[in-house]
Amino acid sequence: MRLLSFLLLCRLGRTITMATEIPLYREPAETAPTDPIDRVIRYHVQTKHHFNRYARSLGHLDWASQPDPFRRFGGSELISLPLLKPDEEPLSPPYDAIYERGAVVAKAVTLPALSRFLEFSLALSAWKKAGDMQWALRSNPSSGNLHPTEGYLVLPQLDGLDLKAGLYHYAPKEHGLEFRAEFPAGQVARLLAPFPQDSFLFGLTSVHWREAWKYGERAFRYCNHDVGHAIGTARIAAATLGWNMALLDGMSQETVAMLLGTDRTDDFADAEPEHPDCLAVVWPLGEVKCDTESAIPLLLDPEISRKLVATSWHGKANRLSREHGVHWDIIDEAAEASWKLSDERLSAAGSRAYANDASRETYDAGSSAGQLIRQRRSAVSFDGKTSITIATFFRMLGRVMPSAELSQPDRPMPWDVLPWKPAIHLLLFVHRVDGLTPGLYVLVRDREKSPLLQQSMNEELIWTPVPGCPDTLPLYWLLEGDAKKAAIQISCHQDIAGDSAFSLGMIAEFEGRLREGGAWWYPRLFWEAGLLGQVLYLEAEAAGVRGTGIGCFFDDPVHEIVGIKGRSFQSLYHFTVGGPVEDERLMTLPAYHHLSR
Ligand SMILES: Cc1cc2nc3c(=O)[nH]c(=O)nc-3n(C[C@H](O)[C@H](O)[C@H](O)COP(=O)(O)O)c2cc1C
Repeated sequence: MRLLSFLLLCRLGRTITMATEIPLYREPAETAPTDPIDRVIRYHVQTKHHFNRYARSLGHLDWASQPDPFRRFGGSELISLPLLKPDEEPLSPPYDAIYERGAVVAKAVTLPALSRFLEFSLALSAWKKAGDMQWALRSNPSSGNLHPTEGYLVLPQLDGLDLKAGLYHYAPKEHGLEFRAEFPAGQVARLLAPFPQDSFLFGLTSVHWREAWKYGERAFRYCNHDVGHAIGTARIAAATLGWNMALLDGMSQETVAMLLGTDRTDDFADAEPEHPDCLAVVWPLGEVKCDTESAIPLLLDPEISRKLVATSWHGKANRLSREHGVHWDIIDEAAEASWKLSDERLSAAGSRAYANDASRETYDAGSSAGQLIRQRRSAVSFDGKTSITIATFFRMLGRVMPSAELSQPDRPMPWDVLPWKPAIHLLLFVHRVDGLTPGLYVLVRDREKSPLLQQSMNEELIWTPVPGCPDTLPLYWLLEGDAKKAAIQISCHQDIAGDSAFSLGMIAEFEGRLREGGAWWYPRLFWEAGLLGQVLYLEAEAAGVRGTGIGCFFDDPVHEIVGIKGRSFQSLYHFTVGGPVEDERLMTLPAYHHLSR
């Protein structure tokens, strides 16, 4: 068998020396494509990093225009959420229990429960301090810690929840809800009538400017990764409360915009706009019956939504940057081209009914989910020696398997949140996994796709099933050898990709999905990638190691390693897991030390 070190280094070496043969960036042709799918593909191609040229950005940080990471709606009422200690109700279950259906008894939707939900999904998790500089970290990670994602709740009038029906914006720094609009309670009840009892809505939007300020044209990708991570933190937060969550992916984006108020130009007059990404329904799990008769619709009635928003609104969005430097039009073009124009009659029907089983609920075994969520951080560097066991490796990979053959509600948490079949497979660079030969591996997250993936890769790859691997894991060994240097090189020369136990590229079914489904699939591929990253972040913490998302990688050199040609598959996101090295120069402060309540 050819050694990976030899093969990869030859390939990478060749690519580096062939750098001038990579087509140099050209200004977009005057006749830009009009077909939305061609437009998103053009965005994707234009925002690739190459060995000899990064995607366009300012190239330096313009501190004068640095965006405020905290959006507020001035003039709206702020309702403080209780700042709960870990040992206050609702308590967090053991981490493993959140993956076991029915093991966490559903909590009632109360203010403390909503507080926990938001704490685990979007709240501050710590402050870091170096000299005079101080910055907040959150439960959801974000490329460059820029946090383009904003969160919203649409709440009905509920017994035990002393809040009016309406739209609320989550203010993470204050851990409070800003009351954007009061919706007539009867209309909200009508809107939510097709869903299980006590359902409410969770929405996400993105301020593209926050990421574009630093990352330029590639920022639309990063914003969508961040949305995927936030879908993940919210789905997992819901699971800690015994709640379920499903993306309302059948909705047109216009209705999402209307319900979240991002189309209210007057409210954003002087402020950076928010792009409406998605809405999800959240409900206490005990109420669900996932049989075909009571399928959950994955959209909201647009007519009721329209009536709902004809109300009085409160607050004006704050301006996040005093000045704005370069505006990257291509981001607006990608956002417009991938806009979902119409409703789709999607629904989620499963085959089994699930009930909570109070007798299985325990709170004393293993690390609590909350503890791992609070301690989650990105490693800034790895020690280059920590290894993980093969059992830990298999366990982690098991968590990212969505059981593609099952219908949506029957899939394991958090994969039950997405209504689509998985589109992403993992190309793994194994460096330090005890019991596993270092080299290149592939995890096919949907078994049906093995032939397609195999055909799209180089014929020299061996595709040997990994000995001792659980049957549920379609994990194949492609090449043996030392992949550390290659992993670092393709990850924009970041050592974190090679000093870890393993790193990986998320290889997405790309052009086929877009041509089949529409341009609006483009952001969804990044959402799935972000969700994958979020699962790995927590799995790494559970295993006593640490993870880091990697948005900076050289796109086509990744493809070249396994011989992927064309655009049927594209790598969309990378991730690395290993033994972290702390930056001792940084001080850590508690998440809400600035609030003296
Ligand atoms: C989409 C995405 C891309 C990222 N890319 C990189 C990267 O290329 N290199 C890196 O060192 N960290 C990367 N990170 C980690 C972020 O810098 C980190 O999430 C952020 O600083 C917040 O810190 P925390 O994750 O500890 O909360 C990425 C994170 C995300 C979510």
